[in-house]
Amino acid sequence: MNKERIREEASYTARGQPNIAFVKYWGKRDERLILPYNSSVSMTLDPSINTTTSVMFSEKFKEDTLYINRDRQDISGGEAKERFALINTLRELAHTDAKALIVSENNFPTASGLASSASGIATLAYAAAEALGLELSEKELSIIARQGSGSACRSILGGIVVWHRGEKPDGSDSFAEQVVNEGYWEELRDVVAIVSTDKKRVSSRAGMKQTVATSLLYRIRPQIAEEYAGVAIDAVKNKDFGRLAETIMRDSSNMHAVMLDTYPPIVYLNDVSVRVMYAIYELNKAEGRNVAAYTFDAGANAHIITLEKDAERVEEALDGIEGISRILKLHQGGGPVLLGSEKSLISNEILDSLYQARS
Ligand code: PMV
Repeated sequence: MNKERIREEASYTARGQPNIAFVKYWGKRDERLILPYNSSVSMTLDPSINTTTSVMFSEKFKEDTLYINRDRQDISGGEAKERFALINTLRELAHTDAKALIVSENNFPTASGLASSASGIATLAYAAAEALGLELSEKELSIIARQGSGSACRSILGGIVVWHRGEKPDGSDSFAEQVVNEGYWEELRDVVAIVSTDKKRVSSRAGMKQTVATSLLYRIRPQIAEEYAGVAIDAVKNKDFGRLAETIMRDSSNMHAVMLDTYPPIVYLNDVSVRVMYAIYELNKAEGRNVAAYTFDAGANAHIITLEKDAERVEEALDGIEGISRILKLHQGGGPVLLGSEKSLISNEILDSLYQARS
């Protein structure tokens, strides 16, 4: 796996995107390796919402340093430290102890249900592997990204992606794979209704742990989701939008039902989210077929999956709903890409402060 020498003190910058799950992941059978109870299926989004991340490794750095949206993050404990484990895995593969400087920026609100962890971690895994001179396959990269944040493994690939739950205790068969590329069913769109940019009250990591521990309804969720994942893949391959749409809506509601069944309950949806659900239901009824499907992650923002020819009707249906601050129409996108060194987010100022800290 390890081909080249570490690219000491050169910065590598990548850009990657979030994904929206058609069939959701909620619950781990292994907390450390991040192995899910069920497979999930998603669509990688286009770069109009993205994360840019620059990574540099150096023996001269005293410690690992992470900046997100210009703020230095505390990575000495908690979820930030757990997410950082993927950097240790990459260092082991590259046989180095060099410390990392990571500077990352999202062009959309962090931790608001727009999947910032997916794009952030996938982009980080990709840029860090490049900076360490590792030549990893997409499968290997997805396994590494998975260890930072489950949903991130799906953002390693473009188009429609499945994350196989796998069976093995070491997680070697729990990886993401492309179902079809972004050109196969190009007409698919995600119309995002921004309802709230507040940070979520319960992180998905803490929330899903609580659900697995306390929800009785969760006992049947993995079987249901596994079945939905198969149906969604089949519907995508056959371009059967009606079937896909029903599966997306049913799965979103199933996940939010087990969240509500958690004790104490977890509620990410708000009254605007519920109004969006009804508006889409009414639209489908008026059209006499499913032209759109709502889905919600761990947040109140609505993702409406539709086809280009129906996107305008969806936007009209959303127009009248009070409480929506912004509507974005997103296409499908590819996996992370490397950007030129002129795009590096690592400034001389940051570097100087780190070198000074050492001396
Ligand atoms: O991987 P995490 O911790 O960001 O979990 C995200 C889970 C959901 O977004 C709610 C569902 C999914 O499959 O993306």
